Amino acid sequence: MLRSTLAALLLASSALAFAQAQKAPAPAYEPSVGQEGKDVVWVPTPQVLVDKMLDMAKATRSDFLMDLGSGDGRTVITAAKRGIRAMGVEYNPDMVELSKRNAEQAGVSQLATFVKADLFETDFSKASVITMFLLPEINLKLRPKILGLKPGTRVVSNTFTMGEWQADETAELGANGGCENSWCTALLWIVPAKVAGTYSTPQGDVTLKQNFQMLSGTLRTGGKTLALQGKVRGEEISFKAGGKDYRGRLNGKQLELK
Ligand SMILES: C[S@@+](CC[C@H](N)C(=O)[O-])C[C@H]1O[C@@H](n2cnc3c(N)ncnc32)[C@H](O)[C@@H]1O
Repeated sequence: MLRSTLAALLLASSALAFAQAQKAPAPAYEPSVGQEGKDVVWVPTPQVLVDKMLDMAKATRSDFLMDLGSGDGRTVITAAKRGIRAMGVEYNPDMVELSKRNAEQAGVSQLATFVKADLFETDFSKASVITMFLLPEINLKLRPKILGLKPGTRVVSNTFTMGEWQADETAELGANGGCENSWCTALLWIVPAKVAGTYSTPQGDVTLKQNFQMLSGTLRTGGKTLALQGKVRGEEISFKAGGKDYRGRLNGKQLELK
């Protein structure tokens, strides 16, 4: 009698333990800084630098932001909190799920979306703002694709450069800027329109040579040939020649100068 009661109790308690084990939620996925990624390890951008990167890009509600290698989703989520539609591209499926949970907790799942994909296989031509924290050699690999994007697209990178394509703006946040450790530099590029060529304008004949966003060339006016130096920022052309400042843009094949 005693034996059968004990056996029944044992059976009941092991059934209870089994049921509890079934019910216990799986431990939440915890990423660790430095963990392997497909092409780059995961290191999160300090939040203060995320904010700065979005400020530098002048990202607004009319933008569509893509973060290439989106980690725990912080840049996408921060953009979405500003009312910006944003998408993270991340290869690690656990990080994608974590980002989705983080977006849900922040109440921004409508605006913040995440895809599990290889950034090299991803079409980011619809983005008007691109953010990234990758590596210099990866930025270089992406550079031809980035330079082919719509002029005016803003690209912001945490710390890493784009080879000889100099940044249009750089901001370094030190301890005073609230960034205590490493990874405190933001670099901004604005995709330049392709403007090299020779144009006849009311101000003279302009020949533009282009090296990324940097312009050199000549302005032929009043029988003189003046050297010019300038920049193209998105569609906006500006240069100096003969001590005078010129601004303008291409309208089709016509250079319109002010
Ligand atoms: C340095 S972390 C940056 C994370 C996030 N952008 C941030 O600033 O906090 C780089 C991220 O890129 C991801 N990654 C690496 N190679 C990738 C690839 N080929 N395609 C998509 N994501 C990739 C890694 O898993 C990692 O989460």
